[in-house]
Amino acid sequence: MIPKISTLGGYIFEYQKSVSNPTGFWNNIAESFYWRKKWSSVLEWDFLRGDAQWFKGAKLNLTENIFERHMFFRANQPALVWEPNDPDEAHRSLTYEELFDEVNKFANVLKSLGVLKGDRVAIYLPMVPELVIAMLACARIGAIHSIIFAGFSAQSLSERMIDAGATILITSDGGYRGNKTIPIKAIADEAMENCQCVKTAIILKRTGEEVAMQPGRDFWWSDLIADVGIHCPATEMDAEDPLFILYTSGSTGKPKGLVHTTGGYMVYSAYTFKNVFQYGDGDIYFCSADIGWITGHTYLVYGPLLAGATSLMFEGIPTWPDAGRFWDIIDKHQVNQFYTAPTAIRSLMALGMEWLNNKDLSSLKVLGTVGEPINEAAWHWYHDHIGKNRCPIVDTWWQTETGGIMISPMAGITPTKPSYATMPLMGIQPKIVNHEGKELMGNSVEGNLCIAFPWPGMARTIWKDHDRFIKTYFTAYPGLYFTGDGVKRDEDGYYRILGRVDDVINVSGHRLGTAEIENAINEHPLVDESAVVGYPHAIKGQGIYAFVVCPQFSTGGEEGIKTSIQLAVTNMIGPFAKPDKIQIVNGLPKTRSGKIMRRILMKIAAGQIDNFGDITTLLNPEIIQTIIADKNDSESKASN
Ligand code: PRX
Repeated sequence: MIPKISTLGGYIFEYQKSVSNPTGFWNNIAESFYWRKKWSSVLEWDFLRGDAQWFKGAKLNLTENIFERHMFFRANQPALVWEPNDPDEAHRSLTYEELFDEVNKFANVLKSLGVLKGDRVAIYLPMVPELVIAMLACARIGAIHSIIFAGFSAQSLSERMIDAGATILITSDGGYRGNKTIPIKAIADEAMENCQCVKTAIILKRTGEEVAMQPGRDFWWSDLIADVGIHCPATEMDAEDPLFILYTSGSTGKPKGLVHTTGGYMVYSAYTFKNVFQYGDGDIYFCSADIGWITGHTYLVYGPLLAGATSLMFEGIPTWPDAGRFWDIIDKHQVNQFYTAPTAIRSLMALGMEWLNNKDLSSLKVLGTVGEPINEAAWHWYHDHIGKNRCPIVDTWWQTETGGIMISPMAGITPTKPSYATMPLMGIQPKIVNHEGKELMGNSVEGNLCIAFPWPGMARTIWKDHDRFIKTYFTAYPGLYFTGDGVKRDEDGYYRILGRVDDVINVSGHRLGTAEIENAINEHPLVDESAVVGYPHAIKGQGIYAFVVCPQFSTGGEEGIKTSIQLAVTNMIGPFAKPDKIQIVNGLPKTRSGKIMRRILMKIAAGQIDNFGDITTLLNPEIIQTIIADKNDSESKASN
């Protein structure tokens, strides 16, 4: 049994133990899993080289810890409950035994297609149970899955498949999202055209619409699954063998393929899941994140299933057929723990209280948030109207890189404060440093958030680019892992995340690099250059503001060019990366060395008109007032 802390005293005691003797602490936690062979050392590490190896020498298969380990007590317990996009379609429930059968069969399909341990399998699927089956089938045979969120464009999909060297793609004919049908296979076809490495595609029928099938390359999931056996022995993995690659955005244009390995990720995802959500036997846990992001990987699939939980997945969106959809699901399935993003809470809050009428939310015990800072108003609305003042909120801070939750209350144990992620979890040693790298000691301090010691769930490298891994995370403050986030430690020692301090923005919980969006905009033939910044947005947390220089566009054609820029971004990244505001400008504020002064643009985008600080290094200071005047002008036109 994975140990569960149940009191504040227990947390304080265990936390002390976990930081004074981290290897002893994680050794004990790891003992509760099933290993074919135990480790020779718990941890070997060197942050200067970006290295950490957990449970070295140990052998295991993660799926044996989900299935074989639980089969005696949980064979008939639902492992996965699936709620479709359309409430009129029947939901599905798969017990641990049924899910095991499906995973085994699909693992045999992959094997029959020649997939071997270490091969990369790209998955581009909507939120259907087969997505979970496919990822666990990869883990069963030691293939490395790389799931690409089904909202990404063909170009983004092919870039990721090429980088990962994926040989096979698992996708579907289409997908449902609210009242829209997404032509997933058509997007996948376009992506495969630009990517020579993918030789085989497995297509799941979801929407049933007609799709082109390329003979010799494309196979229907249903045909392949019909001829395979129900048993598939698990492949023995080293604790440090990769489990998956997940791409995320960074300060530069190229997405990073973060690599998570098997043993440490297994221990960390399950332990943090059970403790943060205080999951108990028989509970129904609902995480609304898409599996295409890390939250879905760790807290919809791996953490809950490793902990023997019943995990509910939802195919649709919170506002369709109406803004009561989440509350209907909670009512229908008697959900006990609900985990979502602040942006969803804010958008539902803005749609009014009527959607809560006649919804029975009394089953709820714990509420969670993730992905971006939650403002106080949203926190209180969630607490008062969804949790009815009796459910603790766990505001969980973590990242794709961290693999699992790092700073968070444990539900009902850690006293909460609105908008605070509160305290570090077991084994996590946060440090706050200033720009010079000096650690800021004590309370009531604010600076950059670093972590001083490895934890089992951390990413081990960037796929095929360890130097970039070192440069991105371990160079700014030697000896520390740098998160890229600003943080405050208040007078009580509580942590509040202040947002990114690099060129990454967080739009509706989606992490985007400003350089990535700029690259897409700059592809437009009429665009000379652009600068993208985030600005405060009431629902999305941050909106995308693009300042674009395009001297050649014809006067009067401003709307047309803005639309075609939006299209360029949709085509290169995906619709979720479309700028909320585009301002055509004559120039960008630049230093003499040619660097765009983004801090000025960020202030302008946020509505500031003066106090720009030191602008003596600017080559063209007069551009600031021109940009402000144009912005005011177009805003007043828009409001008339
Ligand atoms: O800025 C932090 C923000 O999301 C970033 C990580 O994004 P991603 O890798 O996509 O993972 C999101 C889901 C884990 C962080 O660097 N972030 C995440 N959780 C919180 C948060 N900001 C404030 N409060 C949080 N609870």
